Amino acid sequence: MDFFELAKIEDEYEQIAGTYEIFNEDIRLNRSQAARVEFLTTVHCIEQYLKPGDRIADIGAGAGEYSLYFARNGYTVSAVELAERNVEAFRKKLTADDRVELRQGNAIDLSFWPDAAFDIVLLFGPLYHLHREEDRQRCIAEAKRVCKPDGMLFFAFISHDMVFFTELANDPNYFRTGDYDHDTLRLHDFPFVFHTVDECRRILRDGGVRIEREIASDGLSELMEDRINSLDAESYAQYLRFHLHTCEKREMLGHSNHLLFVGRK
Ligand SMILES: C[S@@+](CC[C@H](N)C(=O)[O-])C[C@H]1O[C@@H](n2cnc3c(N)ncnc32)[C@H](O)[C@@H]1O
Repeated sequence: MDFFELAKIEDEYEQIAGTYEIFNEDIRLNRSQAARVEFLTTVHCIEQYLKPGDRIADIGAGAGEYSLYFARNGYTVSAVELAERNVEAFRKKLTADDRVELRQGNAIDLSFWPDAAFDIVLLFGPLYHLHREEDRQRCIAEAKRVCKPDGMLFFAFISHDMVFFTELANDPNYFRTGDYDHDTLRLHDFPFVFHTVDECRRILRDGGVRIEREIASDGLSELMEDRINSLDAESYAQYLRFHLHTCEKREMLGHSNHLLFVGRK
């Protein structure tokens, strides 16, 4: 699979699955110090809400990085993932001791789970894959439905405006030849769907989510990948402290590749 072949796939769900024939989700969050920042920041935030015995839903679970982390820290996890390759990568890592229920399925219909079943609901992926607003809203409605009344909801997005910087870092010709509308400065939503910070807020509010926190989950880590990967352990620890210190400042939000929103129903 390459990007030309991927673009020709008309069925949206087949295209999502095809995306992960190109991107190796299994290593996305653990391949380097820089890549780990998003994971560490997200876990740091979720752990501020976790209580002993909590049940977690991981919707769009990928290769299981979050599910396995929380299951191996004593929580019961139910995970759903669309793409076959990611389900298989996830399943291979599961051991008999892992309290994880994994199924292949679609975030827009979680009818296999009852109402108010989970204390913590993670929706990290579907909102930056689904092209139709009505489908994104169905995901949010389902995430809310399976969340307990006092539960917490966590949503991930890809920040539209930051993509230009990271693309430019990879390609000096990006502003001349890049895959965006050169008049409106709007990215083409391929292979992901991109949102500005305000669009994320609007989508969640339209879905009836009460937003409590907005977090620049990886900040400049992708842009500064080489430098961050070259840091020794002490410098990296201090970089992480700095990142956590600044990642909820309003001025950092747009300048992060991923955005984490925390909310209640
Ligand atoms: C970049 S991965 C993120 C995986 C993991 N949640 C994480 O944050 O590391 C996005 C995931 O969302 C999944 N996904 C996208 N649309 C989905 C849908 N409608 N239902 C279930 N999973 C979906 C993709 O297949 C992919 O595994």
